[in-house]
Amino acid sequence: MSIIEKALDKALELEQSSTHKKADQQDFLEKAAKLEAAAPSPEPAVEDAEAKKIHPINWSSLQAKGMLGPEMAYSQLAEEYRLIKRPLLMNAFPDGDNGIDRANLILVTSSVPGEGKTFTAVNLALSIAMERDKTVLLVDADVAKPSIAELLGISAKTGLIDLLQDKTIRFSDILVKTDIPNLTLLPAGKLDKHSTEFLASDAMKRLANELSARYPDRVVIFDSPPLLAASQGSVLATLVGQIVLVIESESTPQYIVQEAISKLESCEVIGCVLNKTKKGFGFRYYGYGYGYGYGSYGQQRAEG
Ligand SMILES: Nc1ncnc2c1ncn2[C@@H]1O[C@H](COP(=O)(O)OP(=O)(O)OP(=O)(O)O)[C@@H](O)[C@H]1O
Ligand SMILES: [Mg+2]
Repeated sequence: MSIIEKALDKALELEQSSTHKKADQQDFLEKAAKLEAAAPSPEPAVEDAEAKKIHPINWSSLQAKGMLGPEMAYSQLAEEYRLIKRPLLMNAFPDGDNGIDRANLILVTSSVPGEGKTFTAVNLALSIAMERDKTVLLVDADVAKPSIAELLGISAKTGLIDLLQDKTIRFSDILVKTDIPNLTLLPAGKLDKHSTEFLASDAMKRLANELSARYPDRVVIFDSPPLLAASQGSVLATLVGQIVLVIESESTPQYIVQEAISKLESCEVIGCVLNKTKKGFGFRYYGYGYGYGYGSYGQQRAEG
C-alpha cells in the first residue's frame, strides 16, 4: 500500500468514526428527549405536594365569629348543630331506601344576603366532621362571593369554577385537606362572569352525581348565594337531595321566605334554620350565655 493509499484509508477511518460519533450523539439526544418527556416535570410535582398538603384551620378566626371550635363539644352551639344535623344525616344514610336521590348532597341557602348561610354551612360541616364515621366535603359554591377559605384561614387559588372550566384540571388537584381528618374543602375558584352557566352545565351535573355516589360515607355541603339575589342558588338546588334554608330571625319577612321557597321546587327535602334569634327556643341549653340563639329546625317534605 502506497503512502497515499494509507493516508486515504486513515481519512476514511476517521470519517467513519466521526459518523458513528454523530449517530451515537443523535441516539443519545433522542433517548434523552424521550426520558424527559416521560419524566414528570417539576411543576406537577409541586402541585401534587400542594394537593397533599394539610391546611390548618384558623380556629381563632372562627372563635372570633362565635363559631364551633374543638373545645366546644358541650356548648349550646354544638348541641344546636347536633339537632340540625341529625335529620340531615338520617336522610343521607337511611336504613333502607328512603327514595331521596343524592340525599348526601346538602345545599345551605337563604332568601337574601347576610342571613347566615356561610356561618351555618361551616358549623354544620364541622359538626358532621366530628362524627367519627363520616367525611365531609365543604364546597364553596357561592362562586361570585366566596368566603369559606378566608374564614377558615386557608389560601386557595383554584377551585370549583376552574374545575368546570378547564378539562386539564383534576378534581384531586383542587381539593384542600384540612387538619380535621374528615373535612376537606372545595374552594370556589376564580371569579368568572359565566359562573351561573358553569353551575348549570352538564359538567356540574356529572360532578354532583359523582360526588354523591363515589363515597358512601361522605356528606357534601354546598354554601350557596342567596336565592332571591342570584339565579345560582336555584340552579344548585336542582342538584342536591336536601336543602337547609337559613332564615334570619326578626329580619326576613314571611313573604320573602315564601318567594324563596317557591324557587326550591326541584328539591323534596327542605329544612329551615331560624338564625340569629335573640332568645333560645326552650331547648335544654336555653340561656346558656350566648348573645344569639341558633336555629330551630323544622323539616318538611314538599307535597307531591
Ligand atoms: N347565629 C349567628 N350568630 C352570630 N353571628 C352570626 C350568626 N349567623 C351569622 N352571623 C354573622 O352574620 C354575618 C353574616 O353571616 P354569613 O356570612 O354567614 O351570612 P351569609 O348568608 O353567608 O352572607 P352572604 O349572603 O353575604 O354570603 C357574619 O358576620 C356572621 O359571622
Ligand atoms: Mg356567605
